[in-house]
Amino acid sequence: MSGEDILGQLERQLKPYRDSVETFDRIPAHGRSRQEILSLLDALRRLEEPRWRQGYASGAVYHGGEEHAEFLAEAYALHAHDNPLHPDLWPSSTKFEAEVVAMTARMLSGDEVGRHRRGAKVVGAVSTGGTESILLAMLAYRDWGRARGIAQPEVVAPVTAHAAFRKAAHYFGLRLVDVPVDENFKADIAGVKAAMTDATVALVGSAPSFPHGAIDPIPEMASLAKERGIGCHVDACLGGFLLPWAERLGYPVPTFDFRLPGVTSISVDSHKYGYAAKGTSVVLYRSEELFHHQCYAATDWPGGLYASSTLLGSRPGGLIAAAWASLLATGEEGYMAAARDILQAADHIKAGVRAIPDLKVLGDPLFVVAIGSDNLDVYRVMDHMTARGWSLNGLHRPAAFHIAVTRRHAEPGVADRFLADLAACVEAVRQSPPSDEGMAPLYGLAAVAPGDLVQGLLEAYIDVLYEV
Ligand SMILES: Cc1ncc(COP(=O)(O)O)c(C=O)c1O
Repeated sequence: MSGEDILGQLERQLKPYRDSVETFDRIPAHGRSRQEILSLLDALRRLEEPRWRQGYASGAVYHGGEEHAEFLAEAYALHAHDNPLHPDLWPSSTKFEAEVVAMTARMLSGDEVGRHRRGAKVVGAVSTGGTESILLAMLAYRDWGRARGIAQPEVVAPVTAHAAFRKAAHYFGLRLVDVPVDENFKADIAGVKAAMTDATVALVGSAPSFPHGAIDPIPEMASLAKERGIGCHVDACLGGFLLPWAERLGYPVPTFDFRLPGVTSISVDSHKYGYAAKGTSVVLYRSEELFHHQCYAATDWPGGLYASSTLLGSRPGGLIAAAWASLLATGEEGYMAAARDILQAADHIKAGVRAIPDLKVLGDPLFVVAIGSDNLDVYRVMDHMTARGWSLNGLHRPAAFHIAVTRRHAEPGVADRFLADLAACVEAVRQSPPSDEGMAPLYGLAAVAPGDLVQGLLEAYIDVLYEV
């Protein structure tokens, strides 16, 4: 199958949705009625929403309860115009942001109540998502290194660390040193040690990793970093709002947060298991010195004295207000109850997958279940699941796909439906010949084609998304 065929397939998938309402490629001469526009928006929502609401998506929508979603929309609407760039106009934005940071820091500092052991406060900011939090932390380490005379700062991370670390290295001219993972998909600590040089500014570990839900050996990594006097960033984008409660529920969660003296920064997404609306994450630092390296101030700009704490200038204060509202409405009890439900659903899914002949769970994850096989083409299994409505995440090196278990999967019957569909899809792969449609041909191509060819294909894929 050629790249053209793969792109054609993507176009065919998007077209019915896009064409289901009128197309606009210029601003209408006369404004349409609000009612008409709302009905267009609603028509598209109705096409898309049932899929995730019924639990067919991996991750993606982490709460999805109707009342909670309406509440977040109301909180957003009340503060839709707010912009923390103008604290004189919206002092409330500064309150919401500082309190989201404080509540999150406290959650990740154990009994230290938002203060680490030496008494200095954990500091940080609200960003627009996990990727921005990671970009900011990597920028901070780069400049921290440069301030110490390291011309080409290096960051050591397991290959499984999120793609955002690669993006940060690409954007900021950092050298990202990949380290292998062990048989349970956790960073190989001997590899981490071997990769450290005088130019290393930080080690990165995930809690847990996106691909396999593995929690890296953060205590060991944090000690190594502390010994060398460098940073240790924990990417808890996925797990930061779930693992603290999993630990209290008695699940085996290694310490991964500011209780470890060597952990110097954490990224943690309120828009995932914090159940906030899409568009917020928190980046936290043990020291103000590090935090200041992510901030920017212009002192000689004719536009005035300018200071900003994250990558953006103007920022969506409404989303920060909605994140604040989500934390307050959910409460510790709510997070604990959600974690209990999610972890039970994940346990059920893991046991069910292990019982299906020819499938295996990769590693020993808590709530992100990566599924592989020694003798079946798992991408074909995933394609059959897609045909039944599931939206799962393809992984490679090794071939697998995963489901990040959310509250949607803890709804009655959803996990059982997933397992029944999975068993049926495995059977279908055994019985039917390979098809040209789906992700299997794309991953097949990615496995053998040169990197720059796949890169070109992914760029063309982005272009397709922007076609009107
Ligand atoms: C471990 C981890 N880190 C970072 C990210 C990036 O988050 P975002 O998509 O919000 O930018 C994700 C997203 O799934 C993740 O799972």
